[in-house]
Amino acid sequence: MHGIAAFASDMNELASWLRAAFPGIYIVLIEIRNDFEDSILWPFDKQVEHFCATIRNDVHLEQDFNMLGFSQGSFIVRGAVERCSLPVHNLITLSGLHQGVFGIPYLLKLPARLREWISKYTYEELIQDHISTANYWRDSAQFNKCISQFHFLSDINNECIKLNETYRSNMLKVNGFVTTYSKLDEVITPRESGWFLGYAEHSLDIETWNTSRQFTEDLIGIRTLWKPGKLFIFISHTRHQDTPHAPNRDFFLKNILQFFNHIPFQ
Ligand SMILES: *[C@@H]1O[C@H](CO)[C@@H](O)[C@H](O)[C@H]1NC(C)=O
Ligand SMILES: *[C@@H]1O[C@H](CO)[C@@H](O)[C@H](O)[C@H]1NC(C)=O
Repeated sequence: MHGIAAFASDMNELASWLRAAFPGIYIVLIEIRNDFEDSILWPFDKQVEHFCATIRNDVHLEQDFNMLGFSQGSFIVRGAVERCSLPVHNLITLSGLHQGVFGIPYLLKLPARLREWISKYTYEELIQDHISTANYWRDSAQFNKCISQFHFLSDINNECIKLNETYRSNMLKVNGFVTTYSKLDEVITPRESGWFLGYAEHSLDIETWNTSRQFTEDLIGIRTLWKPGKLFIFISHTRHQDTPHAPNRDFFLKNILQFFNHIPFQ
């Protein structure tokens, strides 16, 4: 699953590495409708629904397939596991945004008018319904607002007042969960979001594994996956947009490729 403001074809190069390593492997690169603006303007609830429907209509993906999402695609693949109970073997996210974003670099990719709306009105329901980026904006000065039922991020992260047990039990069904961030990421702020670490409340200090609610409260099962060695975390060293491209090839082959060879871990 590709990232924001991109097409499925952005993942062609990464797919070619898999094809070279596993001849005959079945790969689908999923497009969010036809238009790249849909990845910006369609709220995630709809993007996840669309993604799940595409997978369910594919006879080759009835069980035990590996699913990879890059950048914004990290939400879609994880949301799809949690909400649609897809029977995924390994769930893999590269340079993801699991703990949201809060900061300007990411927004610079968007048209100026959208940027302005997001920083001013992001938690208003209307904006949540119409601009996908607002669905994972996480303002550390406004946690009270971002932890609400309208907010896609706090919903799939189980940070709302009412936890969804299905989300957690679906995450615990995966064989392995692989997640990365890049030390050189110039787009995602904070870049550790790929490891479920965001800014701590009322600060720009980055959470640590043992202070974040995601771990201490095991909201979606990350800690439970970590204990038996089913959580695999890596740090890459590429610019954000290069994640599925040549500058990241060696990292991918060394660390991520192994998760596609379908041998269950101990
Ligand atoms: C949990 O999520 C599933 C899938 O989205 C939904 O069908 C269910 O109603 C939710 N349960 C609660 C308690 O919100
Ligand atoms: C957090 O966890 C790390 C690694 O397990 C540990 O070394 C560190 O002491 C912990 N920090 C606190 C404040 O508990």
